[in-house]
Amino acid sequence: MSDNLTLPAQQGPADVTPAEPLLEVQGLTMHFPIYGGFPIKRKVGAVQAVDGVDLTVGVGESVGLVGESGCGKSTTGRLITRLLEPSAGKITYAGRDITHASRREMAPVRSEIQMIFQDPYSSLNPRQTVGTIIKSPMEVNGIEPEGGREKRVRELLELVGLNPEHYNRFPHEFSGGQRQRIGVARALALNPKLIVADEPVSALDVSIQAQVVNLLKKVQEELGIAFLFIAHDLAVVRHFSQRVAVMYLGKVVEVGDRDAIYNRPRHPYTHALLSAVPEVEMDDDAEPRERIRLSGDVPSPIHPPSGCRFRTRCWKAQDKCATEEPPLLQISGNRAGHLTACHFPEEPTTEARDEDVILDPALQALEGSADQG
Ligand SMILES: Nc1ncnc2c1ncn2[C@@H]1O[C@H](COP(=O)(O)OP(=O)(O)OP(=O)(O)O)[C@@H](O)[C@H]1O
Ligand code: SF4
Ligand SMILES: [Mg+2]
Repeated sequence: MSDNLTLPAQQGPADVTPAEPLLEVQGLTMHFPIYGGFPIKRKVGAVQAVDGVDLTVGVGESVGLVGESGCGKSTTGRLITRLLEPSAGKITYAGRDITHASRREMAPVRSEIQMIFQDPYSSLNPRQTVGTIIKSPMEVNGIEPEGGREKRVRELLELVGLNPEHYNRFPHEFSGGQRQRIGVARALALNPKLIVADEPVSALDVSIQAQVVNLLKKVQEELGIAFLFIAHDLAVVRHFSQRVAVMYLGKVVEVGDRDAIYNRPRHPYTHALLSAVPEVEMDDDAEPRERIRLSGDVPSPIHPPSGCRFRTRCWKAQDKCATEEPPLLQISGNRAGHLTACHFPEEPTTEARDEDVILDPALQALEGSADQG
């Protein structure tokens, strides 16, 4: 990504927990059942994709949700937008419990919560013109804006940096970045209050990513729309999010304001993710941090490790980590609103380490204690 996205590290107020929550998620859980057996199929297990996630997004606030592939980010987004029915937990939107709301009960809320998808190719119908694509949410919801739908679509095209004259063009006539702009215009058609953007730039060329992030930032700031911005890369959300939640294997392991996560992280996994952020993304005066190599795959969410789920890849793991799940708490030294789930947290610093931490030997050393779990 280009440097023009670089923002100064936030030295904001100690407690950035939003005063007025728009979305509140408590204990959100999604266990996808696995069926097996013959001739009678029965449930033989479950994919614990999301397992007790707590998250708040304030009115007009941008929150990043970050973690490696398979940790449950998209599932969380799909639960919040009610594309999936949660196994447990509670979703409150604007003070209203929408956890199990029916289609009819969701109707007034549905237009206020929109989603932007990762793939700007498959998420747009190739047989529909741009005008029809952006107009369709208005048609489905029976909304007739002042001046008509076409006028509104042209305004939206202009807002997202596209030529309003391209109303009758088809998606294949646009580049990847332009298609994602069309996706943004469609998400804005109903004047949403919350947008869940699921990896909205990861399918785009690096040179285009910054432009689309800047567009989303403009939308968030100028229209006051709250965002849950899902990414696997801490570099992308750094420029966008006031708060960041770090997810690992179905759980939030650390959450805090931008300064807490990028400058005072406590969870070893956050340290490891930050090490993966390329040096060019860092502030000019920051020390290089490429000292932790986060190797190996995330364990299967069908049989997650006992205790702390990160323990099979953690260089600080001890016996307690295999037997006791660390709660997500404000640990000693953290400011209000900065929560960490770790028994043996790292120092709140991002300074370069004396020695590399290499996770494969750590994994070998831990095999004994992992077997106990
Ligand atoms: N419909 C489903 N049925 C069964 N398992 C599923 C289903 N959807 C997702 N999963 C599993 O749930 C886990 C979390 O998936 P999810 O797509 O939420 O992860 P993610 O963090 O978005 O990953 P990525 O970065 O690859 O998009 C994965 O192990 C995935 O295989
Ligand atoms: S609880 Fe233990 S295994 Fe988990 S992150 Fe902290 S030190 Fe590592
Ligand atoms: Mg995903």
